[in-house]
Amino acid sequence: MYKVLPCLSGRCAFLTGQQSRSWPTWAKLHLASGALCQKSAFKYPHTDLPEMPPCQFIPEEYKGMSKERMMEIRKQNCNPMTMKVTSYKNPVFIHQGHMQWLWDVDGRRYLDLFAGVATVSVGHCHPKVTAAAEQQLKKLWHTTNIYVYPTLHEYCEKLASYLPDPLKVVYLTNSGSEANDLAMLMARLHTGNYDIITFRGSYHGGSPQTMGLTSNAAYKYPIANGLGCTNTMCPDVFRGPWGGSHCRDSPVQTIRECSCAEGHCMANEHYIGQLKETFATSVPSRVAAFFGEPIQGVGGAVQYPKNYLKEAYKLVRERGGLCIADEVQTGFGRTGSHFWGFQGHDVVPDMVTMAKGIGNGFPMGAVVTTPEIAASFAKGVHFNTFGGNPVACAVASSVLDVIREEGTQQISLHVGTYLMTELAKLRDKYEIVGDVRGKGLMIGVEMVKDKASREPLPAEAMVEIFEDVKDMGVLIGKGGVYGQISEMQ
Ligand SMILES: Cc1ncc(COP(=O)(O)O)c(C=O)c1O
Repeated sequence: MYKVLPCLSGRCAFLTGQQSRSWPTWAKLHLASGALCQKSAFKYPHTDLPEMPPCQFIPEEYKGMSKERMMEIRKQNCNPMTMKVTSYKNPVFIHQGHMQWLWDVDGRRYLDLFAGVATVSVGHCHPKVTAAAEQQLKKLWHTTNIYVYPTLHEYCEKLASYLPDPLKVVYLTNSGSEANDLAMLMARLHTGNYDIITFRGSYHGGSPQTMGLTSNAAYKYPIANGLGCTNTMCPDVFRGPWGGSHCRDSPVQTIRECSCAEGHCMANEHYIGQLKETFATSVPSRVAAFFGEPIQGVGGAVQYPKNYLKEAYKLVRERGGLCIADEVQTGFGRTGSHFWGFQGHDVVPDMVTMAKGIGNGFPMGAVVTTPEIAASFAKGVHFNTFGGNPVACAVASSVLDVIREEGTQQISLHVGTYLMTELAKLRDKYEIVGDVRGKGLMIGVEMVKDKASREPLPAEAMVEIFEDVKDMGVLIGKGGVYGQISEMQ
């Protein structure tokens, strides 16, 4: 039998117990939802699927627009991109959320293992965060930082207390792209250099500037973008040319063999060699910055060899560049072992960008940097109407409180480690499960044609699996340059 891990947080998303039959783990996350049993929706009905854990919360009855009408409007009045990005052949029509659960308009319950694209950090509509928003809405919706108001100052002080010295100066934005745009600008102004290096496969935003940082063709448009942005090989120890069975900081290693002596990582040396090659061939001798996520999110929870970031930071700083950690996905305790992903690499960046989990879904982002870098930026005037909005600050402040009070970071570690360990058993059993990796609730399962070639599982097969998992009541994400990675957050 399965039992729900003790969890107060919506980031808790998993179950413990024996899972020894031949179904993938996700197949075992079946539901006994409020209203419907989804076994009938599953293409290969299986009588043996366990039931979803119970949930006391009762969603409101849906009385809104029909699904057909929503799709008509989606096609006619919402921009065509909404259709392009719609997940699933039979889309999910979400009505309500409570902690780790989502309900569709038909009352069907889903375990949200994608967390609104790694965004819901403490649970859908967490009561404490909702109350903080409500209270602030009654008091003051909007003012800007041309006035002095308490929520802004309370939040900036609180957020800064979570970062090591000298990262103490906070800029508030409305999204991750905006935070990364700002960080690019600040790095260039502070260093007087222009070139910025990122990893292949990365996603850092979709604005014209951040599109240059982003290194994934799906998100690129045929316009002039990325002036001064250069990508380097992502040190992906599963898909890349080098990697072994001790490279990464994860409860699960790759199945690649490793002949490195203790304390020595050949893969790391090779990948650092590639970065040196980038310095030698693709950028001027002085650079503005290196942007890196501690774990590559959209790229598919890609983890680098353990000392890579430390050595990369040193090389970047030798060339006058700033080191920028994009914590949009990895921040706020998601990786379990640490509050920030960079702490798991034993580095201190010059700037940290964040969004997503910062507001548990409330639109918000931030850049935190040093007083020295902030001083270089103070030469002009930077104004942001909504950055630091009182409601956003109240929400984000309460998110930090919930993470601390409910031990959300520890829950991520506990649940994520369990989930990865179980998923690794599936990897050992099934030829198409190539790799399981991650830290805490930042998990990637790389699907392949076969383990020897490591070729991505074809898109059609991924679509089938993705649809079946959803029909069994679990929402997961899809990532990777070839869309070959199942993501669980
Ligand atoms: C690592 C990373 N950086 C930046 C962004 C951009 O954030 P936003 O969508 O809030 O602009 C994303 C979005 O997925 C992301 O995953």
